[in-house]
Amino acid sequence: MTRHFTSLIETGAEEVAALVESARAFKRKPNTDRPLAGKSVAFCFMNPSLRTQVSCEVAAAALGAHPVTLFLGSGTWKIAVEDGVVMDGDCPEHAREAVPVLARMCDALALRSFPAGKDWKEERKDPYLEAFRRLSSVPVISLESAMGHPCQGLADQMTIRERMDPRGKEFLLTWAPHIKPLPLAVPHSAAEAAVLAGMNLTIARPEGYDLDPEIMEKLKGVCRAQGTRLRVTEKPEEAYRGAHVVYGKAWGSLAQYGAPPPADPAFRAEWRVSADKMALTDQAIFLHCLPVRRNVEVDDAVLDGPASAAVDQAENRMHTAKAVLHRLLTGKHYSPEANKCPIPSTR
Ligand code: CP
Repeated sequence: MTRHFTSLIETGAEEVAALVESARAFKRKPNTDRPLAGKSVAFCFMNPSLRTQVSCEVAAAALGAHPVTLFLGSGTWKIAVEDGVVMDGDCPEHAREAVPVLARMCDALALRSFPAGKDWKEERKDPYLEAFRRLSSVPVISLESAMGHPCQGLADQMTIRERMDPRGKEFLLTWAPHIKPLPLAVPHSAAEAAVLAGMNLTIARPEGYDLDPEIMEKLKGVCRAQGTRLRVTEKPEEAYRGAHVVYGKAWGSLAQYGAPPPADPAFRAEWRVSADKMALTDQAIFLHCLPVRRNVEVDDAVLDGPASAAVDQAENRMHTAKAVLHRLLTGKHYSPEANKCPIPSTR
């Protein structure tokens, strides 16, 4: 595994599958040996969270580590990141000191840093996450940046593997309406998780709502290597046919970066995930990273129906967080079977 956990594709298909197996082992048989006792992990948030914060804190504490949750810029000094900046503005601290200081006190650092929605060319470089990766002497975990949400993608793949052998199955990532132009991190990582699991990927989105071109090239590369298929369509209903997994998610347009999606009711109805559309699938499960805007992105009937695995998916954030922390801080995957004492021979 790479030193940091900041991208699923960088982590690789085999390692991602091994992390999912480790997470499933934690879910089956929680570890009570406190393998991370004496260690500390700093979870740094520049944006709000429910699932990510709670899953990380609970996972770290359950393994015996001390979670330190920081809200950068509100509970801490606001941190500058640009090289050579004259710090006469509102940032009294620079990442060049803040990150090494945190790394001297903690055994891993984790960061959530959303894009501002102003300049994709700059924001896609993920300046805060890159500063953490560059300046930290301990492993760094992305808790969602502009380009990816690997912890979410890991839980997505785990939730799929709990229900089916994903190889050769059909994964539909469908754009969904919203009142705001949301980041692309979740759709990027959901698509990565699907292709790394050997699934055929369909991305249904309106014109102007493509994923980042570099991510698309990486997805195509994985599909080529695995002999799987990637298609992109503007026809949502057609895309649902034969799907085994439907992943609904709103994201902003890169063509009109920062602009809210159209609010036209007919357009929203065309793209909202509905029971009628789900009925076109091959009994697909429904996934969403949450939080979800009911009856804007997805109808109540889908979220409250038997196909929805969204709450299980959120629970799996905790198990996958344990898997990532265990791997990064012990160098090993969790495997309760491997830890068993051999049964003494009677012969
Ligand atoms: N899915 C997810 O990351 O949820 P939060 O934003 O609540 O952490």
